[in-house]
Amino acid sequence: MNEFNRQWVLAQRPVGLPNADTFRLDEAPMPTPGDGELLIKTRWLSFDPTQRGWMEDRESYMPPVQIGEVMRAGTVGEVVESNNPDFKVGDIVQGSGGWQEFFVANAGGFMPVQKLPEGVPPSWFLGVLGVTGITAYFGLLDLGEPEPGQTVLVSGAAGATGSVAAQIARIKGCRVIGIAGGPEKCA
Ligand SMILES: NC(=O)c1ccc[n+]([C@@H]2O[C@H](COP(=O)([O-])OP(=O)(O)OC[C@H]3O[C@@H](n4cnc5c(N)ncnc54)[C@H](OP(=O)(O)O)[C@@H]3O)[C@@H](O)[C@H]2O)c1
Repeated sequence: MNEFNRQWVLAQRPVGLPNADTFRLDEAPMPTPGDGELLIKTRWLSFDPTQRGWMEDRESYMPPVQIGEVMRAGTVGEVVESNNPDFKVGDIVQGSGGWQEFFVANAGGFMPVQKLPEGVPPSWFLGVLGVTGITAYFGLLDLGEPEPGQTVLVSGAAGATGSVAAQIARIKGCRVIGIAGGPEKCA
């Protein structure tokens, strides 16, 4: 087991684009799971536009990340210690572990840790089968209510959410026009 837990913390609030001074690499003591808790080693971590909003000192659908706090992010990881009978060592789980090597979680609360099914690449749960895919799915189908033969225009069409929205629209029999930044992305 590691002696330290490496973490990217928010060092200062960016003005405009984040830069090399926005984050700091820290070494924290290894966390210890309590009753009912899991120690999870991060295997994949997520990098999303919404994180830029969390760096601002303002309330939104989630509180801001505080200075010195681990950068919040969706993660997929492996259970390396379990005090919870519903999880065993080696289980691959998704959660909100942030940009750090290890984190402790319980199985409840907001965005709870969930076991991932086998047979699907685990990293997909940070993309097409995760928040961005779900956003495209419900945004397009529940709010857009596309019908066959309609034209659907997708901005950011090469991005994580847009590329899924475009494919769902095609499956629904729509004509899809995508907007993306440059010939490579359009191809
Ligand atoms: N409400 C929710 O639950 C939810 C969930 C997921 C995503 N979202 C939102 O959906 C949007 C797309 O998210 P994503 O995860 O798909 O992001 P992504 O994969 O990073 O794609 C975003 C796309 O936006 C374009 N872009 C980047 N910077 C830009 C700028 N300064 N001006 C104009 N366009 C720019 C880029 O495409 P081009 O280079 O092709 O222009 C990029 O591919 C974001 O606004 C995100 O916050 C919301």
